[in-house]
Amino acid sequence: MNSLIETPTPQGAEAPVSSTSAEAAVSSTTPAASAPEEPRDLAAMLSDIDRLAELAEGWSDEQRIAAEARVRAVDALNAEALRRMIRALREVPGMAPALKQAAADEVVYAVLRRHGILKPSLHERVEAALDSIRPMLASHGGDVEVVNIEPPVVEVRFLGACDGCPASALTFYSGVKKAIKENVPEIEEIKQVKGLAAGKGDAKDTVYFTSPFASYEKEGWTLAAQLRDVPDGFTKIVEVEGQSILLSRFGDRVTCFANACAHMGMTMDSGEIADGIITCPYHGFQYALESGECLTAPEVQLQPHGVRVIGDRIEVQLTA
Ligand code: FES
Repeated sequence: MNSLIETPTPQGAEAPVSSTSAEAAVSSTTPAASAPEEPRDLAAMLSDIDRLAELAEGWSDEQRIAAEARVRAVDALNAEALRRMIRALREVPGMAPALKQAAADEVVYAVLRRHGILKPSLHERVEAALDSIRPMLASHGGDVEVVNIEPPVVEVRFLGACDGCPASALTFYSGVKKAIKENVPEIEEIKQVKGLAAGKGDAKDTVYFTSPFASYEKEGWTLAAQLRDVPDGFTKIVEVEGQSILLSRFGDRVTCFANACAHMGMTMDSGEIADGIITCPYHGFQYALESGECLTAPEVQLQPHGVRVIGDRIEVQLTA
């Protein structure tokens, strides 16, 4: 869709950026005219559009308004052409499966969605419903994710502070259920799933667990270990960004603490671990690896770091 990456120049106005600048904005990802064309993915093409939009930031209001009007006009033309083409193809016997297959392509889907030709998928509508209550959950340090959708049932999981929170049942029924049912009428039942669902660890980007110590920033997460490398009931000491940390697995949960004894800051690499308790090899301070609590001197504790299980990866968010 060339129209999506055009930089229209207002009629009668001097071009605010040179064509060289516009070309440069896309040159790193757009194949040269003489080179054989490689298929480009949606992200690369959207990135071109963003960069071209940035070029227009210095334009005057008049120039920007004129440029936006031209983009809207070209969009309307493209949308009408697509509608007519799809309508005509639908008339052709046996064409429906091919159209459906074409719409599964990420670029085709994005463009048809942009023009309102395709309706949002069930998953998009459920996510949009959840987005409406995410600010409320985030204000309590939590989040919610979709685990599975099989109409009329949706399975969701609370993350972070919402998971196991005594108020979560209330939050669940008054917030999540209401939002989904109001916006996605074909969903009749919303189930809450807990913990790391068996067999679901392969889903690459699904967050299965987030510790209450994690902030809900998207950035700042670092791979610390593979989930399979920390079997249930075991602790693994790893180094992340120059810091030694203790990763411990308790069933569905993973905890992460600085590997630094609260007594004198020594690392506890050779400390004995038994029944979820680590004993510092230096002076014998003991810590519960599930909570970081010091059993020897309750006024101190291990320093917690944010940790989450996403797909089969354990990622950490170091607090300092
Ligand atoms: S440094 Fe750990 S008990 Fe003293």
